[in-house]
Amino acid sequence: MEIEIFNNLKSFVAKYIEEIQQSALSLAELDALCSLGEAAAIYNYVKPNISKDIKAIKIVKGRHPVVEQAVGEENFVPNDLELNSEDQRIIILTGPNMSGKSTYLRQNALICIMAQMGSLVPAESAELPIVDKIFTRIGASDDIATGQSTFLVEMNEVSNIINNATSQSLVLLDEVGRGTSTYDGLSLAWAIVEYIANKNKSKTLFATHYHELTALENYLPGVKNFNVTAQEKDDGIVFLHKVVPGGTDKSYGIQVARLAGLPQEIIRRAEEILMQLEEKSFNTNALEISEKKKDLDIKEDRWKDVKKLLEEIEKLDLLNITPLQAISTLDELQKKVRSLKVLG
Ligand SMILES: Nc1ncnc2c1ncn2[C@@H]1O[C@H](COP(=O)(O)OP(=O)(O)OP(=O)(O)O)[C@@H](O)[C@H]1O
Ligand SMILES: [Mg+2]
Repeated sequence: MEIEIFNNLKSFVAKYIEEIQQSALSLAELDALCSLGEAAAIYNYVKPNISKDIKAIKIVKGRHPVVEQAVGEENFVPNDLELNSEDQRIIILTGPNMSGKSTYLRQNALICIMAQMGSLVPAESAELPIVDKIFTRIGASDDIATGQSTFLVEMNEVSNIINNATSQSLVLLDEVGRGTSTYDGLSLAWAIVEYIANKNKSKTLFATHYHELTALENYLPGVKNFNVTAQEKDDGIVFLHKVVPGGTDKSYGIQVARLAGLPQEIIRRAEEILMQLEEKSFNTNALEISEKKKDLDIKEDRWKDVKKLLEEIEKLDLLNITPLQAISTLDELQKKVRSLKVLG
């Protein structure tokens, strides 16, 4: 009896299967659009200006839609982004742990994706070109089952980016290179940025703790440094989460480890080791600087003497000296120049 009713129902529904599936799809689409509209209305999203004629990404006071809700709207610090195809194509983003580098990378990618799928975006205003692809290399994962170590996965993903990103793509690289030794990682990161700048020419955000990479701004056209600010206080560190121009040279990793509750013993020992390491590099730096300064001092002393000589020549009253006096003055000046060894 039940089976018969069920079978009747099945064959009745089967006749309308196409309509039912179609309405389910339409409802799903409507549901997604309503949710986007609702979020836009509740959380103050704006309509982005998006067009294929726009060449640069200009986001003013952009926010991360999820982190903003997690930390509370009043606590979230909005940030701007400008990426063009000329002098600001690649941003090297430095800043302490926990300052908000990854959040910044992701919020900008999300704003681009949301705009391109027709949604309003979490920002005060946004002007966006149409990007052909968004590539990301974020986080650490491994795939032991298929024989891929964490670092191999990382390099596979980067290689996919390098081989496919175009000048119309947006590339996000979060701490690429950290999966291996410091120098290997830094060298790879450096070479990867160079390659993207010269070959792919994609708009790129590169978050990193390799502060050495900030030197690239001076070598590569289109590379600009930005950092996420933090303030050092007596009893720790305050994260300001504000993205500002310029590089930084500190990671405050130990302070963050303290916040995470690592035993005091480890923290104190780490501070001790850090101090020794910094002193070592400081000493070598100091040595180099003092050598350079010595060189400068010598040059400065010589310059004083050269100036004196020039003044003597300037004061010469050529109209009122005999040719013989002139020759003997010239002889004197020549001797002085020789004794100074100014010419090396
Ligand atoms: N703009 C912001 N305003 C307020 N809070 C923020 C902001 N950005 C990040 N945060 C908070 O800081 C936390 C850490 O951010 P995030 O993971 O982006 O830091 P990070 O700089 O990438 O750190 P790490 O160097 O350790 O990877 C977030 O989980 C969030 O709570
Ligand atoms: Mg991060």
